[in-house]
Amino acid sequence: MFESLTAPPPDKIIQLIQKFREDPREQKIDLGVGVYKNASGITPVMEAVKEAELRLWNSQTTKTYTSLVGEIGFHEVMIKLILGGSIPRDNIAAAHTAGGTGAVRMAFEIIKLASPESSVWISNPSWPNHRAILKFINMNIREYSYFDRDSRSVDFSGMMSDLKDARPGDAIVLHGCCHNPTGSDLSYSQWEELAEFLLERKVIPIIDFAYQGFGDGLDEDAKNLRMIASKFPETLIAGSCSKNFGIYRERTGIMLAVVQENKTKSVIQSVLSSLNRLSLSFPPDHGARLVTMILNDDELSVLWREELEATRKNLQDLRVRLAGELRDLTGSDRFGFLASHKGMFSLTGCSPEQVVTMREKHGIYLVGDSRINVAGLNEDSIPQMARAMVNSGM
Ligand code: LMR
Repeated sequence: MFESLTAPPPDKIIQLIQKFREDPREQKIDLGVGVYKNASGITPVMEAVKEAELRLWNSQTTKTYTSLVGEIGFHEVMIKLILGGSIPRDNIAAAHTAGGTGAVRMAFEIIKLASPESSVWISNPSWPNHRAILKFINMNIREYSYFDRDSRSVDFSGMMSDLKDARPGDAIVLHGCCHNPTGSDLSYSQWEELAEFLLERKVIPIIDFAYQGFGDGLDEDAKNLRMIASKFPETLIAGSCSKNFGIYRERTGIMLAVVQENKTKSVIQSVLSSLNRLSLSFPPDHGARLVTMILNDDELSVLWREELEATRKNLQDLRVRLAGELRDLTGSDRFGFLASHKGMFSLTGCSPEQVVTMREKHGIYLVGDSRINVAGLNEDSIPQMARAMVNSGM
């Protein structure tokens, strides 16, 4: 019977990890999958996480099941981290999910359960898994323009013009900060204008918030999302601890459903429980417990914030250096956008052929859509990267 199955198309980001591993060249550079790497090319376990693991090992007495939506203590610290005090607690339903991806999937399933005919709008381009998951669960997908390939910044007028077709009950995926893959974010006033527009059209925001703390800082990155959540009758937020706590493989994410109607909250809270039960029963616990310990402990919390801030500054520093190196090499500022983009990624805008040249000739791995993860660079590899970009005709 299984011969009737067809192999699903590979995810281009995951495929690239394998290709990179198989490349024997010593000077190769991995700018593919979105994981943070330090100057030695290592994705370190944060000190705060190590310390929390030690304390947990010493204090944990059981590994019995928690609850279908995970530990309430985890919800509390994450609500504070993501929403600050912007929303009354009674208006927030929460569930621990298997990573940010689990929360994104849950958000799409909620829309599907509530209104199967609705469309979900995603940016063009977006994280490839947004489209893949929506397609898999048979949702209508619409795209809105997002990126102006000439200026390498947000095409806000194109975006607003496309969204004129959105209908009441449609949902829209917005990247809370550090847009993946472009690195280009809306300004706060653009967020406000967009919010008014979507409110009027009764479109439901789904905020994918995978990079809090990587853009301008923990609270600064949450500013847009907090404004949205306080204005809309219903907002879905997919939070993640993969990147900002560096606990990628622990699959620690959270779904927050913010509703203005208190009676809707208890229904949606049960929906979240049931969606976890139907997919994984109980969410994984280890990562969430570490995050809860860190955020509830002053000393660990300060340490974690310092480490995250150092990560953010390093990314910013790499961006400025690469843009500077390219300015020196080309005598032009056409790569200046690299310094103003936010987070780990930038869409460089080079052609698919140039992506292949970068990989085959220079051993530098970009995602096929021309996305780079700047964390894959360091002081020593920046000149190599800049020369390869110019030699490849970028
Ligand atoms: C990425 O965009 O590279 C990350 O979010 C990792 C992933 O799962 O694709």
